[in-house]
Amino acid sequence: MWRPKTKHFEKFDNDKNFCFTPENFFQENKNFLEQNKKILLEIWTGKWKFFSNLVKKNPDLFCVWCDLRKDRLINARQKTEILNPDAKNFSFVWWDAKIFLEKCGDESIEKIYMNFPDACTDKKSWKLRFFQQETIELVYKKLKSWWKIFIKTDDFEYFYFTRVSFFFKKNLFREISHSKDVYAEQDVESDDYICTEFEEKWIAQGKKIFELVFEKK
Ligand SMILES: C[S@@+](CC[C@H](N)C(=O)[O-])C[C@H]1O[C@@H](n2cnc3c(N)ncnc32)[C@H](O)[C@@H]1O
Repeated sequence: MWRPKTKHFEKFDNDKNFCFTPENFFQENKNFLEQNKKILLEIWTGKWKFFSNLVKKNPDLFCVWCDLRKDRLINARQKTEILNPDAKNFSFVWWDAKIFLEKCGDESIEKIYMNFPDACTDKKSWKLRFFQQETIELVYKKLKSWWKIFIKTDDFEYFYFTRVSFFFKKNLFREISHSKDVYAEQDVESDDYICTEFEEKWIAQGKKIFELVFEKK
């Protein structure tokens, strides 16, 4: 069985609250998921800020964090608990996002967010980019109809690549919006807008932020 590569995995393997593996995740959250099947998923989460705010702003959704890095999961969990001391509507999956999605029930997810994934700019590493034909088909099966995927990146080429990948699957998803400069086109000062840690870094460097939103047909 595939596992994230780390020598410290066992230390947390039995900590139910961490819900490390997809199998654990479904087992431990069974009751909650049966009562409330609305999942909001952030993949390639990295840091905690965006996720903690999602938890706060979406008390009626079950918010799930999915990333490969254990150190970031621990940090995100601590921060999310501090910022949302009474919230029970979140859980963490320490796993590869594609493998986790494969295990999710069909039409079980309402929204998927992916912010500032590694752009994999070297042509040889393009295969690591998440949204390609196969994963778009996978996500199509897992999302409820009419629900959405939100993607933000600082890399124009990544933005373009992802947009083209979805274009080839336009029978499955419609593009709701695309932005080539979020800070010029959107009200980023509004309470609804959540800025991520990586975003703060790119903005401080004067970079533009690109965004794509797709809806399942
Ligand atoms: C650049 S960071 C994300 C930054 C964060 N979303 C933000 O905007 O501040 C990318 C994260 O994606 C995670 N990641 C990379 N490949 C992944 C995969 N296949 N499944 C889940 N997470 C992955 C990495 O561990 C890393 O924490």
